[in-house]
Amino acid sequence: MADDVADPTGSPGGGKRVLAVIGSPHRGATVRAVERIEARLRLAGGIEVEYLYLRDVGLEGCRGCFCCIAEGEAFCPVHDGRDEVLARLDACDGAIFASPNYVQNVSGLYKTFVDRLAWCCHRPRFYPKPALAVATSAGPFGLKETLAAIQTGPAAWGFVFVDQVGVAAHPRLGAGAASTEMAEAALDRAAERLAATLHDTAPYRPERWRVLHFRSMRGLTLARPEACPADTAYYLPLADSDFFVPARVSPIDRLAGLVVDRAVRRHARREYVPKP
Ligand SMILES: Cc1cc2nc3c(=O)[nH]c(=O)nc-3n(C[C@H](O)[C@H](O)[C@H](O)COP(=O)(O)O)c2cc1C
Repeated sequence: MADDVADPTGSPGGGKRVLAVIGSPHRGATVRAVERIEARLRLAGGIEVEYLYLRDVGLEGCRGCFCCIAEGEAFCPVHDGRDEVLARLDACDGAIFASPNYVQNVSGLYKTFVDRLAWCCHRPRFYPKPALAVATSAGPFGLKETLAAIQTGPAAWGFVFVDQVGVAAHPRLGAGAASTEMAEAALDRAAERLAATLHDTAPYRPERWRVLHFRSMRGLTLARPEACPADTAYYLPLADSDFFVPARVSPIDRLAGLVVDRAVRRHARREYVPKP
């Protein structure tokens, strides 16, 4: 059911809401792959899937002023569908990020979406929502790169990818029975992983790169608090924290974070001279 459901009251019965962000400009292979995941999630029970078609949101290209990052997202000079996208990502419990492989990368629609939320790489706001990455392609070339590009932005914003699926089927020739079967099994497995994570109540344990992301962003920001006031306002209340949100950080990662924190602060003081 790929209809656009925007129910601000949440799923009936207090279930989980999954938002499928579609980076394809039409109802093609990418939507079909996500619909297969949707069917599995529905079978798992207590999960509603909503679709966000990027083609319908009308996002404009980033103008490159850096205001969202330095001053705050409210200072962006572009007034388009960005806040609707943000509201729907805020409202979901988990997400599916999907894009076709267009010339060995994500679609232009998807890249615009990632750029418009770039400040979330500095100030993550979605931790620790589970997510899936889905890429479709005619053949194998560029599928891996597309899957990686799908995750780069959302992972830094705080989405935690629990699986990724690449589906290769030529738009004119299709795919063999064995490849189709394998792709369907991978989509079903991914749906099951997402469903299991959505219902998992164990404390969140961030991967090391996420701990280092936190420590390096905070170190840089607080060493030069005048440079990006929006980042400073975000990190000041986290001055004594181990992570963006309450989480189980392992002792070794905490130690690695401490080393990176110190190195980043030293680098920032030496390297960056504030602009007059
Ligand atoms: C503009 C364009 C560029 C594409 N580039 C590639 C490519 O580099 N490698 C590839 O394997 N498939 C490529 N394809 C095929 C698509 O990735 C594939 O058909 C995909 O499933 C399309 O998904 P969609 O139906 O949701 O648009 C391209 C298709 C289009 C329209």
